[in-house]
Amino acid sequence: MNALLVFYSRDGCTRAAAREISKELGCRAEEIKDMKNRKGLLGFLSAGMDASLKRLTEIKGAHRNPARYCMIIIGTPIWNGHMSPAIRTYVSKNEHKFRKIALFCAEFGLGGEKALLEIEQICGKKPVAILVAKKSAMESEEFKKDLFKFCNSVRNAV
Ligand SMILES: Cc1cc2nc3c(=O)[nH]c(=O)nc-3n(C[C@H](O)[C@H](O)[C@H](O)COP(=O)(O)O)c2cc1C
Repeated sequence: MNALLVFYSRDGCTRAAAREISKELGCRAEEIKDMKNRKGLLGFLSAGMDASLKRLTEIKGAHRNPARYCMIIIGTPIWNGHMSPAIRTYVSKNEHKFRKIALFCAEFGLGGEKALLEIEQICGKKPVAILVAKKSAMESEEFKKDLFKFCNSVRNAV
């Protein structure tokens, strides 16, 4: 599968979805690290504020050249209705190298679609598939079906 999955996760939900997707598709996954500390109360507050203010951050862990892949699958948690600063940074730096994109996010329940739409706008291309993972529903059969559908759309587009 000529697809690369790139994600950031603070608390593990985006990581769990990323693992399922990369397993299902048999594609490589790269986890981005945010060099700014996002743990604890101060980390939580700075995470929300930086996401709201659309700030960039210093990232590590994205080693592969996205230009070498037909499809880039991007996953982010939703913070204050926005993508995480780590994913904003990755997308801003690399969007000109993306051919096709598929997007997914993990959220508590609000803002995912809008945040994914912003990634679409920055990239200037429509995603072949989107998936919004609600934290409380990630173990449900319905979510598994949605994930399978997402993977099928990616597969058909590659
Ligand atoms: C700073 C911060 C802000 C958040 N804001 C939202 C939000 O606006 N909407 C929402 O549905 N969930 C929000 N959440 C919850 C996360 O999106 C949710 O827990 C998600 O599963 C986290 O993904 P992760 O486990 O991969 O880090 C927020 C979490 C944090 C830490």
